[in-house]
Amino acid sequence: MRPYVNSVLTAENAPSNLHLMSNIWNSWGRDHYLGLYPWTWIQFESADLPGPYPFFGGVDPEVVASLQKAHHLMQSAIDTAISDVFAHRGPLDDPDRRRRLEDAYAELVQSRPHLRAHIRCGRRQDGTFQWEYPLDPGKSATMTYIGLRGFNAATQQVFPLRFNSATAAAMGKFLGLLDGTHTVTELQTAVEKSGPGIVGDLTRLLENLKSYDCLGVAQRSSICTHWLGSTQDRDVIHLGHAALLYRQQGQFFLFDPWLMPWFAEMPVPSLWGSLLPRPAAIFLTHDHDDHVDPRTLLSMAKDIPIIAPSRKNRRKLYYDYPALLRELGFTRVIELAHGETFPFEGGSIVSVPFFGEDPCDIEMPRNCYLIADRGRNTLVHVDSGPTNAGRSALTEGVIDDLVKQYGPIATVFASQQQLQELRTYAVHACLSPPGQWLEVGEDGFLTNSYLAQLASAAKARLFVSYATGGADWYPDHLSFMFSRRNPARTALLTAHWERPEALKEKLAPTGCGYHYTRALDIFRPTPDGGTTVVSAGETLFPLNLYRLDHGDPPFLKRKGDRF
Ligand SMILES: [Fe+2]
Repeated sequence: MRPYVNSVLTAENAPSNLHLMSNIWNSWGRDHYLGLYPWTWIQFESADLPGPYPFFGGVDPEVVASLQKAHHLMQSAIDTAISDVFAHRGPLDDPDRRRRLEDAYAELVQSRPHLRAHIRCGRRQDGTFQWEYPLDPGKSATMTYIGLRGFNAATQQVFPLRFNSATAAAMGKFLGLLDGTHTVTELQTAVEKSGPGIVGDLTRLLENLKSYDCLGVAQRSSICTHWLGSTQDRDVIHLGHAALLYRQQGQFFLFDPWLMPWFAEMPVPSLWGSLLPRPAAIFLTHDHDDHVDPRTLLSMAKDIPIIAPSRKNRRKLYYDYPALLRELGFTRVIELAHGETFPFEGGSIVSVPFFGEDPCDIEMPRNCYLIADRGRNTLVHVDSGPTNAGRSALTEGVIDDLVKQYGPIATVFASQQQLQELRTYAVHACLSPPGQWLEVGEDGFLTNSYLAQLASAAKARLFVSYATGGADWYPDHLSFMFSRRNPARTALLTAHWERPEALKEKLAPTGCGYHYTRALDIFRPTPDGGTTVVSAGETLFPLNLYRLDHGDPPFLKRKGDRF
């Protein structure tokens, strides 16, 4: 795809607000539904460059900056040590390597007063190594957004907009209303009620969106009705990667939405927020970009309850979900600690401890979720697995306890990744002891035997392998994204993994089936308590969902071609 043409329309050269306010609402029919096209999206921008770990909590960001700096300064020496091993000049298991790393780190820190101010390290009299940095439970690396960028993938244009008086939260709330379910009259009322200073910013945003052809109008809003007609009670619909939609009677619960606007990464129409029914609640499992995606969350209505891991489960460090979600505009943020439930009529969603995918043993609070709905249970296990020390939901009796309390778990959704990495290359390396940087840590190491034991303990009838892509619209440069487009790269990455499909044989003795899922597979209960997989067929294909209310997209009409 061609690069975006950066057409600049700034606050300064945008037309005057008062003039716009009186006119812009007359651009559309009062009772028509107005929303962002699915090939457009918004990204917030901050005044300052984000630090290494935005919204990371439990430590002063200045301390993190020093730790990051020390790690960065050590990196070339570490790379040389790794090269020596590959060149057969140094042994793989060198008993002195740890000591040399620690001493080099201490020498570096002691030589720089600004690092010494935050990091206490050095060799003690008894030969042990001291390495400490101060914690501060109340501090997190919050960010304040002061502007946004709008993208139109069909015209390949982008526009910047700086907020004058509005907060990011007010902009986020308004963007959430542009999901195609509100009429022009309703949107005008929302803008007028937003407060004197904010009206001008929202109006400028709307005018920019109109100028850059980001807004579609429709005479009806039928997405939700269509989804209700295309799915059944207690269906789970895979939306790609780790995103799942659970149908609970007449409502839907959404898990880990990482959705793509059309043509954002790949030249295919994709499942985007405005093509989904409005969820009754959104559940986030853990602090990885492919599970907490601000771009997707920005497109969603902000009065939806959003459930995240709780700071109550922290040991030292945590991800500050409330700060991020409030900055995006969410007004109903719920931190759900392990064992706590989100109730609904007929059942609840239970917060379940998440282990592993933690190469540096940072131990941030993370959640899996059990959906317990009228006697039928579904486990959203995501990337959880054994920690470096071997602790897991199995060793801690978590799965046994769930089965005792709620009964057998019909369907288990889990990743099959088998990643191990040198800690020095892990995201949070600088927060871990330098002497361990050339040790290997798990980064989601889910062997077939672990997953078979998980399914057995859950008394599962179907194991669903997910969260490694499963749709053609995800970027393929990410290491965990396997698709039919990149078989050779996948072969390189997974050369030493157990074959994922070999899990099938390990599951068979306990009567559990295996399915690698692709987007728009539907997991449906069978009368005997099992799970069958049905395809949504064309009814839920992204282009067909768009056509429901809008007909063909304008760029198809122009070019006369069809997907
Ligand atoms: Fe993850």
